[in-house]
Amino acid sequence: MISKDIDRAVEELNRNNIIGFPTETVYGLAGNAYETEAINKIFEVKKRPTFNPLIVHIKSISDLEKVACDIPPIAYELANAFWPGPLTLILKKQPHIPDLVTANQDTVAVRVPNHPVALELLHKLEFPLVAPSANPFKRISPTQAVHVEDYFGNQIGLVLDGGTCNSGIESTIVGFNNNKVEVYRLGALAMEEIEKYSENVVVLNKKRKQPIAPGMLLKHYAPKTDFILTRNIQNELEWFSDKKIGLLLFNKTEASLEEKYQFVLSPESDLKIAASKLYDALHQLDKMNLDIIIAERFPEFGLGLSINDRLERAAKK
Ligand code: TXA
Ligand code: MG
Repeated sequence: MISKDIDRAVEELNRNNIIGFPTETVYGLAGNAYETEAINKIFEVKKRPTFNPLIVHIKSISDLEKVACDIPPIAYELANAFWPGPLTLILKKQPHIPDLVTANQDTVAVRVPNHPVALELLHKLEFPLVAPSANPFKRISPTQAVHVEDYFGNQIGLVLDGGTCNSGIESTIVGFNNNKVEVYRLGALAMEEIEKYSENVVVLNKKRKQPIAPGMLLKHYAPKTDFILTRNIQNELEWFSDKKIGLLLFNKTEASLEEKYQFVLSPESDLKIAASKLYDALHQLDKMNLDIIIAERFPEFGLGLSINDRLERAAKK
């Protein structure tokens, strides 16, 4: 059930039920971060393996030390600069954070979401919320309440409606190693923004075998329809000319295909706008009974890097 009733959401969460809730990035599947009953429900409903840890959502930076400790100065600088906002910090965890949240690691992922409904909800609760993106494991993340309802409608207490997510792509995740800021997952906060605060920012290798973050699993964010990513749309259109094709494009349509099969994410060439529309376009394309979705590679800077990261994972076999 989709609802705007925050008090009802509070009741559900206080009873250890889980709900869909809006953030500025994507919708989350939320439960009490301190209660294993609620956390287990999240893993079950999402069909997520328990070796994948969850992000803890707190209401403000003043709650940070309730969940994390040994916080380096650069972490505070980034939190002060970007919270509330789409930046998740990996920090040493406080002992009382359940092992199920952190997949038995001694670190915890934490952020303050920048969405008025999420913040109002968190302020009405006595506990933080753990919330993975509200999609079944490996599928496209939800950016509207109806996406969550379609995935999990009858399995969860409710979906708290906060409209369409502004950023539309998951938070950027960073950890700290000596003097380095290590980027675990590219996301809604551009690398260039983080580089303003540190000269030593490194993106961890995506291809390492053991995923340190499931956002780093190679196949992820995937539509059911066959999906390819290319630098040359023309070539692919010719190659697949006998197929029913849908296109995901940056700033302009292709003359050779009917427009209703084309999703242009930002005619004004704005990567932020493109990121905000990415998952909704994938949801829509996936419903069109196409043989194949062909996506064009985005520019390799700013949020273009984050968009390409998601498209590469969606295209993995
Ligand atoms: O924007 C977002 O981050 C959204 C909204 C709902 O906040 N949440 C989200 O959660 O994307 P999820 O579960 O889909 O992705 C969380 C990522 C995973 O890749 C997970 O492995 C990583 O965070 N993560 C969580 N705790 C970690 C830890 N202690 N060390 C390394 N990675 C961690
Ligand atoms: Mg996710």
